[in-house]
Amino acid sequence: MKPLRADATPATEAPASAASAGPAPDGAMLQRLVQAAMQVRGQAYAPYSRFAVGAALLDEHGRIHVGANVENAAYSVTQCAEASAIGAMVSAGGRRILAAAVAGVSPQGAWVTPCGACRQRLREFASAEMPVLVVGEQGLQATLRFDELLPHSFGPGHLPTV
Ligand code: THU
Repeated sequence: MKPLRADATPATEAPASAASAGPAPDGAMLQRLVQAAMQVRGQAYAPYSRFAVGAALLDEHGRIHVGANVENAAYSVTQCAEASAIGAMVSAGGRRILAAAVAGVSPQGAWVTPCGACRQRLREFASAEMPVLVVGEQGLQATLRFDELLPHSFGPGHLPTV
């Protein structure tokens, strides 16, 4: 097995503050993120709900990480698209989310926003201002600030530093 890179962020280290994340992403980058979320939605494994979701995350290195929902015959084991994308980002060394896009299509035309558990998952790596792009069948439907989705939230900064 390959040894850990010497510069890899140790698993025990909380993400750096949002201030170190660099400039806000531009419109072209956000459009790429929207496209990535729509595209990966096509890979969803959702035979039970038939509700496909795609997520795309822009990290502090300017890279996009994607994930789709992965359902299971034991329904509660289902993994949301956001969790898949976070797993891909962390595995690739990303530790900050500068922008997130979530693509889903509600039959009622309602926006598909991250579920409660995924809001908390995103919180670990996001700033209060992080844009969350809500993506439907035709593309971008809305842009929300992360703290609109999860106000007064609990995060790494609440824990004592070790
Ligand atoms: N789902 C996501 O992937 N992300 C969310 O934020 C909401 C729900 C998935 C889980 C399940 O596979 C399907 O959508 C229906 O709940």
